[in-house]
Amino acid sequence: MSPSLQPVLDRIAAEVRSLPGRGRPADYIPALASADPGRFGMAVAELDGTVYGVGDWRVPFSTQSITKVFTLALALSLEGDPLWEHVGREPSGNPFNSLVQLEYENGIPRNPFINAGALVVTDRLQTLTGDAAGTLRSFLRAESGNPGLDVDERVADSESAHGDRNAALAHFMASYGNIANPVPTLLRQYFRQCSIEASCADLAVATGFLARHGIRSDGSTLLTRSQAKQVNAVMLTCGTYDAAGDFAYRVGLPGKSGVGGGIIAVVPGRCTVCVWSPGLDQRGNSVAGVAALDRFTTLTGLSVF
Ligand code: DON
Repeated sequence: MSPSLQPVLDRIAAEVRSLPGRGRPADYIPALASADPGRFGMAVAELDGTVYGVGDWRVPFSTQSITKVFTLALALSLEGDPLWEHVGREPSGNPFNSLVQLEYENGIPRNPFINAGALVVTDRLQTLTGDAAGTLRSFLRAESGNPGLDVDERVADSESAHGDRNAALAHFMASYGNIANPVPTLLRQYFRQCSIEASCADLAVATGFLARHGIRSDGSTLLTRSQAKQVNAVMLTCGTYDAAGDFAYRVGLPGKSGVGGGIIAVVPGRCTVCVWSPGLDQRGNSVAGVAALDRFTTLTGLSVF
């Protein structure tokens, strides 16, 4: 049996408490602006089902762009390689909500984790299932074992009321024929997807299929081993946007952040981690979250490198 990770998490939580700056919660979605930057939670789920946690690890928060990993996995499992005709897999080097590359790259977003790419993936999932956000919620409930996991309607409404940039991205891609559903339908699905609430415990457990090489919690196959590798690889190179290089340097794991302050990370074949603290840096990644993952891989040696 491997040694307990609990002392490592306790040590990280103590260290994070003395971080000089914690960043600021996202305020371009008003419903997220009031989050307390003092909050901090972290959970690790091992492949045998053991879950360790510290701080606010059972407190639900807004998952936001973390959901982009799960919609990608679901769309890839249903559609396979043709998905990649609609979205690339190169780092963008630009902010997550940027429009600049779309015109000279003919409406094909760089990767599935920037907003443009995630909109394309949700559009594919909507076409494949008729209810992208509902399919995602069912999947997360099943994988986390939390049947109460749900959309925060207040956040979804707030995103919708302040969603001009996502609307611009969707309409622009539709003009290139890269969006199949009516844009208002797509945006409603996308905002509901981003507004799902889950805790560090829920998300660490739900991400397990990526550490199990594509195998779901009930033993069935969601992704082939090769597809699970692909999703992890895109997380490593694109999961934290224009900070992906620095994240790989500091943490050395596939990771995906959200503007709610959460980050998930995968140690393939070993465990999954979720950390949450709402204060963000300039690029939309949790300051304390990145610091905690940096310490986690340094203290445990658990990294893909
Ligand atoms: O569409 C948006 O802007 C948000 N719902 C999600 C963005 C996000 O989480 C980016 N992550 N760091």
